[in-house]
Amino acid sequence: MAQDGNELITKHATMPPWGLEGKRILVAVSAGVAAYKTCILVRALIRAGAMIKIVMTESARAFVSAETFQALSGEPVYTDLWDDRVSNRMAHIELGRWADAIIIAPASADLMARLAHGICNDLLSTLCLARPRDRCLLLIAPAMNKEMWSHPATQRNAAILEKDATIFLGPDRGDQACGETGDGRMLEPDDLLQALEHALSPKFLAGRHCLITAGPTFEAIDPVRGITNRSSGKMGFAIARAASQAGAIVHLIAGPVSLKSPWQVHRTDVVSALDMKQAVDRALESMQHSVIERSIFISVAAVADWRPAEIASQKIKKQHGESAPSLQFIENPDILAGVAARSPRPFCVGFAAESEMLHEHGEAKRKKKNIPMLAANIGHETFGQDLNQLLLLDARGSRSLPLATKEKLAQQLIEAIASDLT
Ligand code: C5P
Repeated sequence: MAQDGNELITKHATMPPWGLEGKRILVAVSAGVAAYKTCILVRALIRAGAMIKIVMTESARAFVSAETFQALSGEPVYTDLWDDRVSNRMAHIELGRWADAIIIAPASADLMARLAHGICNDLLSTLCLARPRDRCLLLIAPAMNKEMWSHPATQRNAAILEKDATIFLGPDRGDQACGETGDGRMLEPDDLLQALEHALSPKFLAGRHCLITAGPTFEAIDPVRGITNRSSGKMGFAIARAASQAGAIVHLIAGPVSLKSPWQVHRTDVVSALDMKQAVDRALESMQHSVIERSIFISVAAVADWRPAEIASQKIKKQHGESAPSLQFIENPDILAGVAARSPRPFCVGFAAESEMLHEHGEAKRKKKNIPMLAANIGHETFGQDLNQLLLLDARGSRSLPLATKEKLAQQLIEAIASDLT
């Protein structure tokens, strides 16, 4: 890799950028109470480095004013087909040509019906039809009463739109503004943001399965006590998010953490190292050999090395005057080494939390576990933090990934894995 990293750097130079940084997103708002959530989406998109333009339908303005969106985005809001701020007065052509993606949130039943049938009777419907479909994605986040959503007419329109390569985001199930509960809620802004990131990221891992362990394990002593560590799971979750953005089918096996699952990632929650091993074995055993050979196992979890030899069935009581109980430990199985010893085996990536001599300890661990790639970091400096730095080790050498957010490092790690796989 880095050592001579020219090959890698050349490859990376040609790789398209990830996610939303510098991407041109046209946020379109049609009528719906959920329009207030779109304000939050706009802020999140700007924070993620996207360039924004906003289009509203006439009825959307009954819910949130154009001035609110203008203030949030710092950009003019377009509503009129004949807007004279666009020099050729062809807003319906220029806006679609400008955008990398259009996201309609909320998308009303009426708008879906018009889009499905190519009806162009306002700026939004016209620009969706006029957009260059080969380079401007259309994503829609429906929001409506559950009866409206489940009505055969709406379902027919949704099917037509899907056939026309429209990407549907939701709707979600839950409480609705009309007081009912059911399908038709708009997805939350963070989900919409992740879906956009997903849609716009390069697909380095298309068609591959990626199994990831993350977080700590919890080894019970008795029903209320146990031994764990300070891993937050942030690095593993960021890697799951990046792998999914890169097009992999991701299964995340998580120890006890309080993190939300990344968009489109299948998650299994576990507690102890034995649970984690069982979940990993099950996941691999459900895959065909040909799939395993093309899959990736990224072992990010801080798995406890030992567990108490016995778990007391009742809480161990403090006895006045008696000495503290002594615990006997037994070693946990090494999940990663077990996967690496399988045949066929996935491409295995380990993590090493060290306190010094990253290169020496990391390389020794990579060889001992017989894995092609290992990411070493200083454990006590990264547990629970949002930033990290990694030293990547593989058969070709080592490469430092300098201090950055765990999201950024996760993307770099996925690029490195994709590069080693090709
Ligand atoms: O040997 P050490 O615990 O430092 O190795 C760390 C790597 O091995 C990490 O990738 C971790 O997820 C994995 N591991 C494991 N099962 C264990 C211990 C560590 O999969 N019991």
